[in-house]
Order: sequence, then structure tokens, then C-alpha cells
Amino acid sequence: MRTIEWQNGTLVTIDQSKLPKETVVLTLKNCEEVADAIRNMKIRGAPLLGAAAAFALALTAHLSEAESRERLLAELEKSAEIIRATRPTAINLFWAIDRILNKAKGFFGSSRELAAFVVNEAQKIADEDVAVNHLIGKHGANLIHDGDVVLTHCNAGALATVDYGTALGIIRAAWDSGKKIKVFATETRPQLQGARLTVYELQQAGIPVTLITDSMVGYVMAKQLVNKVVVGADRVVQDAVINKIGTFTIAVLAREHSIPFFVAAPTSTFDLTNKANNIIIEQRKPEEVTHIGSVRIATEGVDVLNPAFDATPLKYVTAIICEQGILYRNNLVKFKSSIPKRVYKR
Ligand code: MRU
Repeated sequence: MRTIEWQNGTLVTIDQSKLPKETVVLTLKNCEEVADAIRNMKIRGAPLLGAAAAFALALTAHLSEAESRERLLAELEKSAEIIRATRPTAINLFWAIDRILNKAKGFFGSSRELAAFVVNEAQKIADEDVAVNHLIGKHGANLIHDGDVVLTHCNAGALATVDYGTALGIIRAAWDSGKKIKVFATETRPQLQGARLTVYELQQAGIPVTLITDSMVGYVMAKQLVNKVVVGADRVVQDAVINKIGTFTIAVLAREHSIPFFVAAPTSTFDLTNKANNIIIEQRKPEEVTHIGSVRIATEGVDVLNPAFDATPLKYVTAIICEQGILYRNNLVKFKSSIPKRVYKR
């Protein structure tokens, strides 16, 4: 099963906040339910957020009783506002909404025909994500060699996408081509996407994985236990890669130890009109830090900082692997001018 699927006018997905302990399948019936699932981290990961946003608009279109195309467009705009307000950092969410709205505005037909068009466009976004991830995997596997030990952070796997994954897509493709590789996964405090999701996915694929805490990265690099880093991205901007909190620290450590630092991201994650300073970094609730699960570990009253993402300056990035190929840092300037600049509404 894909991580997200349109089934008979509903959206079927897995509650990622409960994995791996429980596999709870969610059937989401309207845009508000999708927004709620995004806010509560049941649906997460940049490309999956894009697909979910697209399907949220598809649900609105499917349920609509609007009698005119204009009325349905107004309902879609309203749903877009609800989804835009869920999580601010991953660009894919905004990219998918803008793609659906722009195409819907250019579609002329009855409200029913427009609704079918929107559902079809959301499905296309989901299908394209799978194809793009396989291409990222194919390109990126060329950078991974037999015997490599790859460190990854957070979860940029099938669960973070519609299927296959970006960073884990590269690892899967390398493994499937017969390279005997191993993976080190960071636990990824505070939401533990590495410990809960990446380890689960890699074990299911039969790829050897060792779990470490985030603070062990310097140790494993100094001991030469890993020789490559591959992570995903929530936004690639002009001067940085924005990804899960802790990515920047890993990139600096990788540079210190002369370890290549690769970023896997589809071009739908690129936001090249912006710089890191302009991007809203999502701040999540203090309880994620003061508690482990439902158990309080810090004393009452402590101040907490809980940014969900950080920005890694491009100077630390060896290459970005997207569906178009491998973009080495030295070629990024040329690359930047070759892809269309999109302006996103916040
Ligand atoms: O807070 P999350 O779990 O949505 O953060 C996910 C990440 O940071 C991933 O690395 C990123 O979205 C890339 S997923 C292919």
C-alpha cells in the first residue's frame, strides 16, 4: 500500500504518530480532517504533505454541492487557506496547493467537471511523487558504493512520501542493485522519526540499520563508523537546505570529518526565490521536549525552545540529488538559473 491513497471519495493513510507500535489506518473524509492529521503529525514529511494538501482540495471538490465553477473555486480557496495554516516550513504543501488552484482557475467547464479535474490532478501529484522518488533513487545510488555505511537523519523514506522515499529511496536503490551497505539512523529528537519510522522501514526492507541518539553523530564520525550522509529536505532555498532540526549539526560534523553530505529532494521542494532568513521555521509545543511520550522528564516551569527545522548553508552540501540528476554544489549556481522560480503564497 502507498502511504496515502484516494479510495472511493476518501483519503486513506497511516497514522504515523502511532508507528511502529500500532498500525492505525485513517480514513479522512474532508479537508478539516486532513488539516488535523497534518497538525498532529499523523501525516508528515515534505512530499507527503504535498500529496495530502492536494488530496485535501480533492476532498473539498468531491464533496462540493456548488452549482457553478466560480462557487467551487471559492470553496477550494477556503480549503487552501485551512491547509496553508497547518505547517509553515515544508514547501511541498504550498507547491501542491498552488498547482491545484492555478490549474483549476484555468479549467473551464461545469462545477462537476471541475471537481473531477481537481481529483485527477491530486492523483497526478501523488503518482508523480512515486516516479520522481524512483528517479532520485536511481541517480543517487551512483553515489553509494559497496561497503558504504550511510548516516541518515529523521525519516525521508516511503512514509515521508507517497512511496519509496527520497533519502531512503537512494539507500533502497543502492541496496536493490546489490551493494552491501549499512545505515546508521539518528533517533531524531523530539518526535523520534528516525527511531520510530526510519528503523521500521529499513528493517522491513531487510537493510542493516543501527540506531544512535542524535548526540552520537560526532562519535560515529570520529570512529569512522560512517562514510556518507544522505538526508531529505523540507525546502531548498538560494543559500541553504532546510530540514529536520539537527541536520545543520550533522553537516558541520561531516565537513570536519571530510564525509560527503548529500541531500535528496524533488524539485517540488525547491524554493529558489527565497533565502533561509525569510523562511518560517515551525516552532512546536514545549511538551515535545519536556516529555518523552506522556512521561514528564523536565521540571515544571522550564523555558523550552523547540524549532522543528534548521537551515544548513549550501557550503556544507556536497550535492543535491533531485529527479533531474545530481547537482554538485559547484554547479548549483548554473542549476539555479535553469529551473523556474515559483512564488508561493504563505
Ligand atoms: O517534521 P517532519 O517529520 O514532517 O519532518 C520531516 C523531515 O524533516 C524530512 O527530512 C523531510 O520532510 C524530507 S522527507 C522526504
